Parts: sequence; C-alpha cells; structure tokens
Amino acid sequence: MASRFPSSWLDDLRARSDIVQVVSSYVGLKKSGRKYWGLCPFHGEKTASFSVDAEQQLFYCFGCKAGGNVISFIMDIERCSFNEAVEFLADRAHIPLPEMVNDADWERRRTRRERLLQANREAARFYHETLFTPAGEASLAYLHRRGLSDAVIRKFGLGAAPDQWSALTDRLLAAGFTLDELSSVGLTVVKPPKEKGGKPRHFDMFRNRAIFPIIDMYKNVIAFGGRSLGNELPKYMNTSDTPVFNKRKGVYAANLLRQQRHLDHVILVEGYMDVVSLTQFGVNGVCATLGTALTNEQARLLRRFAPEVFLGYDGDSAGQHAILRGLDILEEEGIPARVLDFPDGLDPDEFIRRDGAEGFSALPAIPAAEYRLRRLKESFDLSGDEGRMNYVRKAAFVLAPLDPVGQETYIKTLMLETGFSREVLKQQIESAGGKKEKAGEAPSVQPQYRKPAPAANRRVSESVSPEVAAQETLIGLLATGQIPKDMVEEKDFEDEELKSLYTALLSGASPASLLDSAPDEESRSRYTRILMSPVADSTDQMISMAAQCLVRIRRASCQKQYEALQQQLKSLDPKDPSIPALLREAQEIRRKLDRMT
Ligand code: UTP
Ligand code: MN
Repeated sequence: MASRFPSSWLDDLRARSDIVQVVSSYVGLKKSGRKYWGLCPFHGEKTASFSVDAEQQLFYCFGCKAGGNVISFIMDIERCSFNEAVEFLADRAHIPLPEMVNDADWERRRTRRERLLQANREAARFYHETLFTPAGEASLAYLHRRGLSDAVIRKFGLGAAPDQWSALTDRLLAAGFTLDELSSVGLTVVKPPKEKGGKPRHFDMFRNRAIFPIIDMYKNVIAFGGRSLGNELPKYMNTSDTPVFNKRKGVYAANLLRQQRHLDHVILVEGYMDVVSLTQFGVNGVCATLGTALTNEQARLLRRFAPEVFLGYDGDSAGQHAILRGLDILEEEGIPARVLDFPDGLDPDEFIRRDGAEGFSALPAIPAAEYRLRRLKESFDLSGDEGRMNYVRKAAFVLAPLDPVGQETYIKTLMLETGFSREVLKQQIESAGGKKEKAGEAPSVQPQYRKPAPAANRRVSESVSPEVAAQETLIGLLATGQIPKDMVEEKDFEDEELKSLYTALLSGASPASLLDSAPDEESRSRYTRILMSPVADSTDQMISMAAQCLVRIRRASCQKQYEALQQQLKSLDPKDPSIPALLREAQEIRRKLDRMT
C-alpha cells in the first residue's frame, strides 16, 4: 500500500518554508527587479544566473536550467529523496510530521510510470539474487574472471540473467505485472502468435548475460545493460528507450555520483566495465554514457555533480575521435574539461589493471585547449610555411575563448613551434574570437544584468514554435491567478504537459505544488520556466498579454485546419460528392481567420 504526505499538509509546509529564506542559507541573494539573483550552487559560474521568484515560490537557473520549488531545491542541494527533503523542511520549520495517509485512491492514481519503475526494480533484484544461485554461476564466474570483487558487485547491484527463455518474465507476471508493462520497459519481447487464434509468445530480453542495472540519481532503476559471457555478439545489449528511460539523458552510475560530495571533477568513461573497475580501485566520481556519444543533456547532468569533467575515453582511435566531440559539447555547456589520455590503446579498465591505482593517479589530466592543440598539430606539416600558417589559424580558434593568462603559455609554445611573433599570434586569436561571437545566437531568456558565458550563447534548448511559446506564456499568466479562468479552454493547449498544468491550475493547485508531479528533471526545468512570474506590472497588462497569446494560438490552430482541408481537397477526385461541403467548411475557416487579424 502506498503512503504519502497529505497534500494539504504539504501545502502548509511549503507556505511556512519561504523559498527566499531557505535558499538564502545556501546562496547569497540580491534583489533585482522582481526576482532575487545569486550564483548558481549547481554549476560553477562567476555571474549570477540563478533566480528565485518569491511570488511563485520557484527557483530557476538560466545557466544550467535547474529549477523547481523549495522541496526540489533541498533535494538537489542536500542530494536527498523527496521524503527526506520534506522531513528536513518540516524540522526546520518546527512542524511535526503528519500521519502518512494510506489511501486506495492514491494507489489507483499511481502513474504507469511508477509501475514500470517498480517492474525494473524487481527485475534488478531478481538478477542480483540469481547471481548467487546455480542459475547465475556462469555470470558470477565471468565477473570474477574480469577481476571484480564481491563488494563491488554488490555496490553496483550487478546480476545474472539465467540461460532460460522466460525466467524473469514468469516471475514478474506472477508478481502482478502485465506483459504490456514488461514489454514496454524492454524486459520482455512479445511476438505475435505462430498460428491464427493462438496466444502471443514471449521471452526474456536478457538471457545468459551478466547484468548491469542503470540507476538514476533518485535511485530509480531505469534500464539494463547485459554483457555476453564470452565472445557472442552483441557484446552488450542495452534497454532501448522506454517511457522511463532515455539513453541520451542518463549516465551510468548517477546514483553513486550523487552520494559523493565535494567532487573536484567527474570522470566520464565509455564502458560500464570501466566504471565498475575504476571504482573498485578506489577512483571516485566515475560514470559512463550509455553506448552513445556524449549529449548536451548528459553534460548538464554532470555539471550537477562536479565543477569539471575529465574525459577518460578508450585509447583506441574511436575513443580519440569521441574526445574532440565530447570537448565541444562540454564547451557548449560552459563546463571546464580535461582529458585523460590512456597509453597503448588501452581502455581505463585495462589500464588500471596493468598500472594500478598509482599509475592511474599519475596520468596527467590534460586541459581541453592543450589536448586540442596537440591533436591539431598532428594534422599539419609544420616543416612548411603553409602548414604552419594553417595550424596557427586553427589554433587561434582554440585559444580565443581562454582568458589572457590561460592564453599566455600556449602563445609561448606556438611562438616556438611556428616562429610567428607574439603580436601576430595575439591578433590572430583576437580576430578568431570576434568571428566566433558573431556566429553565436543570443539566448531567448536573459536576466538584465547577467553577461552569460560565451559558450552558453550558442544553445537555445528551449526554442519552441511561436504557438507553443504563446501557450507557455499563457500558463504563466494563469499561474498568477489574475486572468479570468473562463478566458482560456483546455483545447488551447497542444501537448500533454501543458494540458495537465492547465487542468491542475484550474482546480486551484498552487504553481509551486505542480513541481512535485514533474516526471523528470527536464520537465521540472520546463515547468519552472513556464510557471515563473511573467514580466507584467498590472492585471490589465496580464489580461492583454493573455489575449494576444490566445489570438496567436487560435489563429495557428485555424490555419492548421485550413491547410489540412486544402490537402484533403487536393487529394480527392474532382467528382467526389463530399467536395462542396468541404469547400464550405474551408470558406468558413477562412472567414474566421480573417476576422482574427
Ligand atoms: P567497449 O567495446 O569499449 O566495451 O564499449 P568495454 O566497456 O571495454 O567492455 P568490455 O571490457 O569488453 O566488457 C563501451 C560501451 O559501449 C556500449 C556499452 O555501453 C559499453 O559499455 N556497447 C558496446 C554497446 O552498447 N554494445 C556493444 O555491443 C558494445
Ligand atoms: Mn573493456
């Protein structure tokens, strides 16, 4: 039976935990305009892009997009669960904890997402338990052969998928999960029946493999990787994207990263085995992408754990190529980065087994610029004038983003390598810097006095169509409670998230309380951005903004209908009897559109 805090009690807790006061005990805040501003505690920065909205009781960082209400702030800064954050705030406000309510209603309202996560959790438990039974013997022997200790096996919750067709599926079906649920999290493969009228067939996705559960920072089991026990291909099988898993957003071992405080840097490697192995040798802060190249979302996630990222990719050529791309992504997100260059084509696991923890800590962590210059230099022939000129032209772009002190050592080296004078090199760097800036786009939302890091300029991740932007603004206006509710209808909103925000606001929920139901961090960030107070001074101004939004939304929707009708008309046979009616309908919409301008 699920239990939870009563929602009226949570409302009271939020009311007595003013977000400005709570945040102020971690971050120095200054009032400017309608909001409070400070240095974001979740990513390294020198100019304030972290804002607190006292009216709506929300925080939002324009740099790293972290956002939420007072409870999410505590979860993020204290790195704890929702319930722990609630207890922390209750203690701070001297409010006694309430009786948890056990209600059937809540159980019914539990989302599909929670059931899917539960299925994953039970699967992870099954795999882990199986590892220490005869059905898991082969996997356990494999992991031992790879040098893993039982302690590290338990730390990562590694497991065994037995060499059977449906051991896991049978177990989870018996526990009350449905085939539909199991197939949508990728644990079970369902095939149509062999003959007509027969039953669909099903089997376990992972069989006869060592299992690496992928656990997010909130300790949810979101996916699995399965290593074959020998040379069978594919070497690794991974859960594809599911309703609870997006491989572009997560990293392997996020759960362990979150527990490690005050990390100077995160080490990003390519493989699960590299993470487990380095951890066994006592290296902290290691994680891996999930079989894809580093994405911007993952880079932003990493920034939550440490101010700097070390790329520890394999020493082979594919790894070397991935490093340059990874450095670009980290630079786009304004994250300082270094490279660990593993010798002899080794991967981190092979290297640390060969050279030990001492060998690992003796590896130089090469600053991004130095690494890039080194790679550039390899691609030019510096014995000729042309090679030297082209090398300097490219190098100037690498150095342009650095501050003068950062540039100095590299300028000295370049002078020696190429024979160009300091003056020329400086001019080249300056002109490279100018070009780069012109290529950048201004961010769409920007606080007045913040001068964002140049890299942050290039990404406009929340760029949405004008209609959706208008819908978002409209939600923000509704959240102030100053717009007549009957001005707006549910059908004015296109996507499910916006519809659900609208319905919740309509039923009287406070904007801050909506953040507790955001399904993931990306949505939490989006909800916050949308729900923050709009820039308007009076009720009249807000109503007129809302009216403008509505015109834009309804026009766009009419326009779409009109175009769809035109398409339909085009596709019909000229003698089709439905044409006159469709034409009348199109005319009607056209008139409506004209009235709207
Ligand atoms: P690697 O091929 O570098 O493997 O793949 P590894 O981590 O060194 O594995 P071991 O040491 O041979 O066991 C790196 C990562 O790429 C993904 C996995 O996430 C893996 O950890 N990968 C690799 C796949 O998804 N499928 C594959 O078939 C191979
Ligand atoms: Mn390996």
